[in-house]
Amino acid sequence: MTKPHLTDALKAEITKMYDKYEVRRSVIMPALHAIQESFGYISKEVADELSGFMELPRVMIEEVITFYTMYHRNPVGKHHFQVCENVTCCMFQARELTDHIKKLTNLKKPGEVTEDGLFSYEAVACLGSCGTAPVVMINDDYHESFSEEKATMFVENARGSKDE
Ligand code: FES
Repeated sequence: MTKPHLTDALKAEITKMYDKYEVRRSVIMPALHAIQESFGYISKEVADELSGFMELPRVMIEEVITFYTMYHRNPVGKHHFQVCENVTCCMFQARELTDHIKKLTNLKKPGEVTEDGLFSYEAVACLGSCGTAPVVMINDDYHESFSEEKATMFVENARGSKDE
């Protein structure tokens, strides 16, 4: 498998983005999004390439990747759980929910991907919807008032649709 890199297609896509924004740094987020769409994550090497291509300091790219939980630095599963483990969600059993997801998927720690490539998980800071705790994001979708039952159903459905 070829290593993720800034392909000509990505460079062309990013160049087109410049027309939509007044300042070049505003293109960082959509550019990272396009990269993640292509490879599923943003490797250190690609972030370096992006910095060179956009002629922006590497630290500026790094700040964005680090600040937003939606960007992944390593490969993730097809269904990536981000469980909010901030105070309010923890009051509504978020940690127990993480344990349940680990048990369902046989994952031992964040950053692992199941052998079939279907699942991975991580704990994240407040997802900004404390009123509907516990909150979990699965890929780009918010799941509010999540529960062990909903997690079980989701994992079973994901496994079922993989077999079809
Ligand atoms: S504490 Fe979980 S969404 Fe805010």
